[in-house]
Amino acid sequence: MNQYSIAIIGGDGIGPDVVKEAGKVLKAAGLNYEGQEFDLGGARYLKDGEILSDETLEELRKFDAILLGAVGTPEVPPGVIERGLLLKMRFDLDQYINLRPFFSPTSPSGQAIDMVCVRENTEGPYVGEGGVLRRGTKGEVATQGSVNTRHGVERCIRYAFELAQSRPKKHLTMVHKTNVLTFAGDLWNRTFNEVALEYPDVKTAYSHIDAACIYFVEDPVRFDVIVTDNLFGDILTDLGGAVSGGIGRAASGNLNPTRQTPSMFEPVHGSAPDIAGKNLADPRAAIISAAMMCEFLGENEVAQKIRKALEITTAFVGSTTQIGDEIAQACK
Ligand code: IPM
Ligand code: MN
Repeated sequence: MNQYSIAIIGGDGIGPDVVKEAGKVLKAAGLNYEGQEFDLGGARYLKDGEILSDETLEELRKFDAILLGAVGTPEVPPGVIERGLLLKMRFDLDQYINLRPFFSPTSPSGQAIDMVCVRENTEGPYVGEGGVLRRGTKGEVATQGSVNTRHGVERCIRYAFELAQSRPKKHLTMVHKTNVLTFAGDLWNRTFNEVALEYPDVKTAYSHIDAACIYFVEDPVRFDVIVTDNLFGDILTDLGGAVSGGIGRAASGNLNPTRQTPSMFEPVHGSAPDIAGKNLADPRAAIISAAMMCEFLGENEVAQKIRKALEITTAFVGSTTQIGDEIAQACK
């Protein structure tokens, strides 16, 4: 087996706790890696002002992958750490796919949920286009645009088609709001239809984002692969977590499929400062993210071990460390 170098960013709140359990499980499952910890996040920013310097970013580029817990702390105004650290990594490392799988043995119809959301991860309203005029006055104006490039939309949609084609159901749903966001929606729609011609064996569907929210709650079994823009994907994947075992089990990979830069694996949940340090957080989202990392690195045997262990221990209830220990034990 290759030896991997993994950058570990525990971050804030429950982040370091859940990442520690993920490390425990990776070791138990036999991944041959060396982890290097990076002290980044809101707490670090409050210490010495560093969010993510160009030097640190250059250092991160040398790793095979990045494992991240969660970032953000209530003492720092919203956006500072999110934009300066998390989004900076996604954008600068061109992790253009945010892959978020959802499994659950049950659903409202009784069938299992097995769907995966392909969220565009470098464009949309996240790029920070816009500005403010006359701030704090009665005449204040704020704009916040959504940037959609043919290049960015097409590579995301193409990735989703490839993924759908590799799965038994071969079904891909595009989610957008083409009835209102007619400029971006038209670009997404045309690109989707054009790329679809290259994948005649993949069945396609379209859902407006509002309707997709109803289907996620009432009939998630209809979905296989979903492709959507950055902001719709953000919202829809919290809902995906909520309907499939809870946000404590929702994992993600921020992927650069070209492998020119490291991909980053992190739970969908946030830093949950209210329960930080209490040994209460479910580390499963971080552990599933670690399994996704192994799969992306091509270490399928290790990933299989972790997935099997997660299955055996799925009903196990305990503290953060107890769940980590239980899953690590089941890996051996
Ligand atoms: C997520 C998070 C981030 C996002 C925040 C923390 C910037 O909610 O990974 O879903 O909006 O992408
Ligand atoms: Mn989110």
